[in-house]
Amino acid sequence: MDSPARHRASRQGASSLRTSGPRTSRHGADVIVVGAGIIGLACARELAARGHSVIVLERSRPGNGASYAAAGMLAPLAEVPEAGPFFDACRDSRDQWCTYAPDLAEETGMALDYDTEGTILVDDPAVLSCFRAAATALGEAFEDLDRSTLTAHLPGLAPELESGLLMPAEHRIDNRAVCRALEASLARRGVSVLGGCAVRDIRATQHGSVPGAVVEGDGWRYEADHVVVAAGAWSGEIALADLVGGEGNGSAEAQPTRVRPVRGEMLAYGAVSWPFQGSVRSAHCYAVRRAGGGLLVGATVDEAGFDDRTTPQGQRELLDGIARLFPALVDKPVLASWSGLRPGTPDGLPHVGPLAGRSVWAATGHYRNGILLAPWTAHWLTRALEGDLEARQMLMPFTPERASRTSLACS
Ligand code: GLY
Repeated sequence: MDSPARHRASRQGASSLRTSGPRTSRHGADVIVVGAGIIGLACARELAARGHSVIVLERSRPGNGASYAAAGMLAPLAEVPEAGPFFDACRDSRDQWCTYAPDLAEETGMALDYDTEGTILVDDPAVLSCFRAAATALGEAFEDLDRSTLTAHLPGLAPELESGLLMPAEHRIDNRAVCRALEASLARRGVSVLGGCAVRDIRATQHGSVPGAVVEGDGWRYEADHVVVAAGAWSGEIALADLVGGEGNGSAEAQPTRVRPVRGEMLAYGAVSWPFQGSVRSAHCYAVRRAGGGLLVGATVDEAGFDDRTTPQGQRELLDGIARLFPALVDKPVLASWSGLRPGTPDGLPHVGPLAGRSVWAATGHYRNGILLAPWTAHWLTRALEGDLEARQMLMPFTPERASRTSLACS
C-alpha cells in the first residue's frame, strides 16, 4: 500500500444490511471494494491473496448485474480488433484466463466450463477480410473455413453462409459459475461480501500524511485506507469528494466516474448438438455454448437508463439474428430471456486507476469486456494500489481522467 495499513475499516449503523460476515462493527480491513460483480470479486480475491484485508460492499446480490447477464466470451480479437493498449490488455487477460480458470476451479472445486475451442466468425467477405487482416497484424491465430468444414462444425448453418473464420484463441467461460467460485474463494480467504449496501458517497480523507477514505450509505459508514470502485453501471451514481487536508478543512468535489448503463438483452435455447463447442459470431448476434449443450444468444445494445427489462424489439432482434445463422432454431422454444446493464464509458475503454486523492481507485467501465478483463484488472489494479510503478504505467491509458479516443477499426 501507499500508506501503512492502519486497520481502521469500521462500520456504523448498517448491521441490518449485512448478508454475511462478522456482526461486529470493526472489520480491520485495508481495502473496501465497492461492487461484487466479477471485477470487484476478482480484485478482492487478488488483494486478499497478496495479504491485504478486504471487505466487499454490494448494492444488490453478488454477481447479479452485468456479470450475470453476460455470455462469458473471452474474445479480444472479435471485440477489439485494433492494435493498442486496450487490445494488449484484453489479450493479456485472455492469456491470464488460461491459468486463472484452472486455479480458481481447483481452489474451489467448482466447474467453470472454460472452453478453448475458439470462435467461428461467419460474416460478409469484407468483414472476414477485415478480421483476417487484423488477426495477421496482431499476431493472433486464424483459419479460413470453407462451407463443408463450417457445416461439419455447425450442422444447420444457413445455406447461403459459405465461408467463415475460425479464431482459435477466442475462448469462453461460464460467467455465472466464475462469480460463484470467486465468492467461494473469498469466503475461504476470510473476505466478507456484504449485500444490500448501496453506496451513496465516497470521501477521500487525509489524517496527517496518511490518506484514507470514508464510504457512506443510508445510515451506515465504513472507513479504510483504500477504496476500489467496481460498481459497474452504477459507478457513475456514486458521489465522490476529495477532502483536502482532513475532515473539516474543506472538500473539493471530484468527478464521479463517467460510467453509464448500456442495456444488453439475451436469450437461451436448450441443448444443440453441434460438434463445435466454441462460440459463433456474426454481424447480427453471437451464440455461445454452455456445458450440457445449451445455447445463449446475444446481445442487443441500447440505452434505457437503469431499465433492465427485456423488450419485444430486443428479443425480436435476437431471434432475427440467430435465424440468419441457424434457421431451424426459430422453431425451438426460447427457454429464458434476460437483460443486463453494461458499464459504458464515453470512449468505450475501462476506467482503471486513481480517482480521488491517493486512496480511491476505479476498476469499472469495462463495457463489453468485463468477464474477459477480470484477471488483468485484478492483477494490475492491486499492484498499482500497492505503489508498483510498472503497474501505474500500465494503467495510464485507462486513467479515469483521460481524453476520449475514436472508434474501432472493424466496427
Ligand atoms: N461481451 C459482449 C456483449 O457485451 O454483448
